[in-house]
Amino acid sequence: MNVYVGLLGCGTVGQGVVNLTQKRAGIIADMTGYRPVVKRVLVRDLAKRRDVDLNSEVFTRDADVVLADPEIQVIVETMGGIEPARTYILAALRRGKHVVTANKDLIALHGVEILETARDAGVDILFEASVGGAIPLIGPLQDNLTANEVTDLKGIINGTTNYILTQMTETGMDFAQALAEAQELGYAEANPASDVDGLDAARKLVILASIAFHAHVRLDEVRVEGIRTVTAQDVAYAKELGTVVKLVASGSDRGGKLSLSVRPTLIPQGHPLAHVSGSYNALFVRGDAAGDLMFFGRGAGSLPTASAVMGDVISLLRNMRLGVTSSRNHRLVLDKQVQMDDSEPLRHYLRMSVSDQPGVFAEIARLFAVAGISMETVLQKRVTAGTAEIVVVTHEIPVEVMNETIDRLRTSSHVQQVHCVMPVEALAE
Ligand SMILES: NC(=O)c1ccc[n+]([C@@H]2O[C@H](COP(=O)([O-])OP(=O)(O)OC[C@H]3O[C@@H](n4cnc5c(N)ncnc54)[C@H](OP(=O)(O)O)[C@@H]3O)[C@@H](O)[C@H]2O)c1
Repeated sequence: MNVYVGLLGCGTVGQGVVNLTQKRAGIIADMTGYRPVVKRVLVRDLAKRRDVDLNSEVFTRDADVVLADPEIQVIVETMGGIEPARTYILAALRRGKHVVTANKDLIALHGVEILETARDAGVDILFEASVGGAIPLIGPLQDNLTANEVTDLKGIINGTTNYILTQMTETGMDFAQALAEAQELGYAEANPASDVDGLDAARKLVILASIAFHAHVRLDEVRVEGIRTVTAQDVAYAKELGTVVKLVASGSDRGGKLSLSVRPTLIPQGHPLAHVSGSYNALFVRGDAAGDLMFFGRGAGSLPTASAVMGDVISLLRNMRLGVTSSRNHRLVLDKQVQMDDSEPLRHYLRMSVSDQPGVFAEIARLFAVAGISMETVLQKRVTAGTAEIVVVTHEIPVEVMNETIDRLRTSSHVQQVHCVMPVEALAE
């Protein structure tokens, strides 16, 4: 039996969805009893050439042609952005259509409204492709790991910044050069702000943390720092320290107190996340029963993302066959109190320039000692006449104590500038 699908958007991901649907329609029909058929496709530009085998009459610029078609039972949204995607998805759900979306921006900002609308309408809304491209993350966190209390999430979940940092590490190029190269190769957008300033990773972390910690996490609860301040110098020092710089999205739950951040972080070479290079993504999860798990794979791209979208389509076709909706819908709506916590102890990397004079190091050591911070490693290099660069890696210290000490260092007459501060990840146990 055919089940008709309406596709909103037919760009990179949408074309992959059309092609994979056609390629696997037979096996999906065998598995679920329903053969998915793309009946209508919403686009902006009807004249654009697309790499799909569909009649031109299937395409429309009128969203109502898709949303009001009573034969269409499943909507796949791959157009991106907040509006009009939000309005179309809510309209589809209210009309009793199941929805699959790859839209992390929308789920991160309006997930609760969308999930509640789906629940009220008794339909499915699934969004595996919104985080980590092809890598199954939401399914495992919502289903397979439900028996666990998840305490830690640590991920490299933005391919653009990972590509830039990998290039900086491997070639020694600076941020601007690596960004320009990423833009030339299509790994970074013309306006790269959302990626390089950490917002894209923060939105994905909101989705993952909400599910893993059963809490309603908001974007403004994530401490976000991008990679613009990471210099070739920091990357070189990181190497000297046996580590590599990565943009890490991190979440922890300590008895109901959550810490959420996206920050450039030094990862020891022996840590599994250190070897996640280029456009790959990975998520490290710690559960009280499962122990440590690592999910790794392609975080973007046409077919990898379509793979996750189609996994959701198949899940909801199975649900349709059974006459149920997914229990996944309801977990994210839990409104556990989120208490933000800055007392999580972390090792820190600091690079500062100081006057190259006797007594300067003793003064810095005194400021650290006053705050109770002990130093694990110190590198001291002369940069120019009169200026030296000091790199310190501290032992574990709460973020709030580190921040107070950095303020004191900045007002010290011996310290010219504190250039860069990054957490240093411990080796996984
Ligand atoms: N690209 C990836 O690797 C990837 C990975 C994971 C998740 N995602 C998510 O998947 C979604 C789609 O990404 P994408 O890379 O496939 O985007 P894309 O290549 O820019 O494609 C967007 C599609 O949506 C259509 N569209 C956009 N706004 C529209 C509007 N107002 N009315 C009608 N059609 C509209 C465009 O039509 P025209 O073609 O006519 O312009 C285009 O076909 C986004 O939410 C993105 O975050 C993407």
